[in-house]
Amino acid sequence: MTGIVVLVSGNGSNLEAIAEACYKNQINSNIINVISNNPDAFGIVRAKRLNIPHICIDHKEFSTRDDFDLSLMRHIEQFDPDLIILAGFMRILTKTFTRCFNGKLINIHPSILPKYPGLNTHEKVLLSDDKHHGVTIHYVNEVVDAGAIIAQGILKLPDSPDERKMIDNIHRIEHDLYPKVVSEIIDHKIKYKNENVKFTKDSIFYENNVVNYEWK
Ligand code: GRF
Repeated sequence: MTGIVVLVSGNGSNLEAIAEACYKNQINSNIINVISNNPDAFGIVRAKRLNIPHICIDHKEFSTRDDFDLSLMRHIEQFDPDLIILAGFMRILTKTFTRCFNGKLINIHPSILPKYPGLNTHEKVLLSDDKHHGVTIHYVNEVVDAGAIIAQGILKLPDSPDERKMIDNIHRIEHDLYPKVVSEIIDHKIKYKNENVKFTKDSIFYENNVVNYEWK
């Protein structure tokens, strides 16, 4: 067991939810490094407060995406982490990077994938007549937001949902579901095999990897 590396670009609330779950021993591991590509990320402030080693590798200091990803890769490789968690990391990763960490790299996306990959998912939901919104946790492959789905949290929407409330609900779901998935990956209840996700019988997702949440 070596630990977890978390990549952030912004607010870092998912980082904090996972750190807290580690602290409470709900995850049998520790965050050994937080990496931000953005020097102003609040996630770095959170890492400092939580006493977690952190570094900024500013993508603007690299002339190509490949150079940035290589530097990120070399930095992560020194830890030989059990798991690399994208938590609001807003950079598209190269094939070299995703292949290097195949099966060890996960992401959380604020939509019910395959619906609404990419950015501005909340706006897209509000412009639609969708009855549900949600989050997807998935392994990361070379295609953005298209890797094998681990678990989804589904939120039933009221008529004319309030945007702020909807985003708060989505965050609440993320902070509940992401630590649970991370815990099960660390405990080998969730495994990645040939681009597929396998659940052991004692996984809470074994019979159903879709979790329904109430609007609050
Ligand atoms: C989350 O909504 C996550 O789904 C998306 O980026 C957001 C990050 O939020 N990938 P935070 O930085 O963890 O608060």
